[in-house]
Amino acid sequence: DLPPRVRIHEVGARDGLQNEKSTVPTEVKAEFIRRLADAGLTTIEATSFVHPKWVPQLADAEQLYPLVGDLPVALPVLVPNERGLDRALALGARRIAVFASATESFAKANLNRTVDEALAMFRPVVERAKEHKVHVRGYLSMCFGDPWEGAVPIHQVVRVSKALMDMGCDELSLGDTIGVATPGHVQDLLSELNEEGVPTSAIGVHFHDTYGQALANTLAALQHGVTTVDASAGGLGGCPYAKSATGNLATEDLVWMLHGLGIETGVDLGRLTATSVWMAAHLDRPSPSRTVRALSHK
Ligand code: HMG
Ligand code: MG
Repeated sequence: DLPPRVRIHEVGARDGLQNEKSTVPTEVKAEFIRRLADAGLTTIEATSFVHPKWVPQLADAEQLYPLVGDLPVALPVLVPNERGLDRALALGARRIAVFASATESFAKANLNRTVDEALAMFRPVVERAKEHKVHVRGYLSMCFGDPWEGAVPIHQVVRVSKALMDMGCDELSLGDTIGVATPGHVQDLLSELNEEGVPTSAIGVHFHDTYGQALANTLAALQHGVTTVDASAGGLGGCPYAKSATGNLATEDLVWMLHGLGIETGVDLGRLTATSVWMAAHLDRPSPSRTVRALSHK
């Protein structure tokens, strides 16, 4: 059985833009987020409060957040440590996300920490966020494969997932950072997480589309009962600290499939596509989304 409704966690403004070489003006980012909200997306990841040298594209978080903070949508922001939390709280952020890794290689590359050192860095962040009644998402990267370590054993993913849930994360987003997952692997990981006490209701899926498997993987997750799916408008994106990671599953491709299945999203596909076409013009590059191309070349 498929769920009647899916909540799309839109990551275009964060995961989508973080890898862009040319600096996108803050006002263009704000307009992008406003248009996404106008297209019916209700959870729009806005930016990251990370070290500006690590992700220069998002160094304008302090300028951007106040421009969109009043929109009637959830605006989660990435926060790696207490310094990041302080910055987010100072601007009134109500939703944050910490981001762990299932592999040592990526923990080092992305956070300059071991897996367990990174978890230790997040613990006080989550604790303080909860004190402020701030919603916390726990991302877990490299849940299926890692560019340095190859296939990632499920037990390794389960261990870090449980650590994130145990420290108080409200939801868990399973990241296929480099897009190598296939549907059977997705089902196996979800089943194992359930057996180890992580309920499907707390789980979201975050697929990158490197091998063109993101929609198939999403369908496998929906069949398992998952109702939160991450996607990036126009299929923008990639991770600066994971070689061979391409864009996320395109939100338009996701919406096309979900609406075709009779699953509600609240998203107006026409408005969303127009937004991605508009953004592609700013980035001077066509959207990689098949659905955006199909709908904009009529
Ligand atoms: P570090 O170099 O170990 O930092 O980096 P540190 O803790 O040693 O601090 C060094 C200096 O940085 C200090 O300044 C801190 O104050 C400052 P100093 O005292 O030397 O003047 N600093 C900060 N400044 C501003 N904001 C902060 C902050 N923290 C420290 N928050 C650190 C460690 C975690 C900071 C760094 O590794 C970092 O910022 N990493 C972020 C990487 C990132 O954003 N990656 C992309 C997001 S993850 C992703 O895309 C995957 C995902 O999409 C899911 C999937 O697809 O798998 C989520
Ligand atoms: Mg990602």
